[in-house]
Amino acid sequence: MRINDSKLIAAIGALGVEYKPGVSLAEKTSLGIGGTSDMLVIQNHDSLPELVRLLRESKAPYRFLGGGSNVLLPDGELPWVILQLARRDPDITFEGNSVLVDCAADLGRTVTTCAKHDLGGMEGLIGVPGTVGGALRMNAGAYGTQIGTHVREVRVFRGSTGRIEILRGPEINFEYRHTSFASDDIMLSVRLELPSKPYSEILQGIRICNEKRRASQPLNQKSAGCIFKNPPGGSAGRMIDELGLKGHHVGDARVSDRHANFFVNAGHATAADMLALIADVRKRVRERYGVELEEEVIVWKDA
Ligand code: EPU
Repeated sequence: MRINDSKLIAAIGALGVEYKPGVSLAEKTSLGIGGTSDMLVIQNHDSLPELVRLLRESKAPYRFLGGGSNVLLPDGELPWVILQLARRDPDITFEGNSVLVDCAADLGRTVTTCAKHDLGGMEGLIGVPGTVGGALRMNAGAYGTQIGTHVREVRVFRGSTGRIEILRGPEINFEYRHTSFASDDIMLSVRLELPSKPYSEILQGIRICNEKRRASQPLNQKSAGCIFKNPPGGSAGRMIDELGLKGHHVGDARVSDRHANFFVNAGHATAADMLALIADVRKRVRERYGVELEEEVIVWKDA
């Protein structure tokens, strides 16, 4: 969406928020899919309540984009202004076993920085692309680790109240790839409590997870990780593989040859291609197994 109101643009600038007109969002996502929109980059978290108030007053719909690694954005001109947090420096601060992390921080770098301070527990998350905020929203997990396990408190902008609030760990529900955060909540920073572990031991764990991931996932291709959640007790990847669908494609949206629950953009895939592939695979799994697969990737649709 383009902001055509010069007064609004000036008011946004006065808040210290960076205005970027007509951004190509495909470049902001790991799938390399998405149309264009105006983007607002938030330098100071405390400007968010006023920024959102201004946008709502101007009837300018907005959406928040984190690291762009687990989303499928629509093609063409998007019907929302896109908000994103600027990266802070420093974005990780240590107080004993407690670590304060800015939600715009890169997840992998957070894992390795904590390791250098002899703080472990997040080894399995190495190689999960995206920001710490994105990992929190989905309760990202791999190889037996889930980020939610380590959360002590989260500073969050709540769309429902228009205010910044602090939520303690027990107030947040972390489940398999799901949390109790509302879709219009914007995570700002998180305090993690991590177990002490010698650096060498953490490094060993990181190496093992990296090897497993390299052996089973298409890391050098554009993807959003797993497309579907695993159904209870089952494996979406195995079912899609058993149906012989590796390499199956709609345009350049393709089921990975390496891991069948990864759908890759093998060239110039559009959102329409990817959505058609998702619908086709879901239908085939339903017909063969009687299982309705649920998307793990967040698909941006009109509200
Ligand atoms: N399998 C196949 N064919 C395939 C893919 C998998 O037969 O094409 C089989 C494997 O051999 C294995 C089983 O299916 O027996 C499970 O596969 P894998 O170990 O690769 O794990 P997954 O359940 O497919 C989950 C997460 C991944 C995470 C890995 C490692 C989900 C939806 N996926 O994958 O997370 O990296 O475990 O812990 O929970 C993501 O969230 O985007 C993601 C990739």
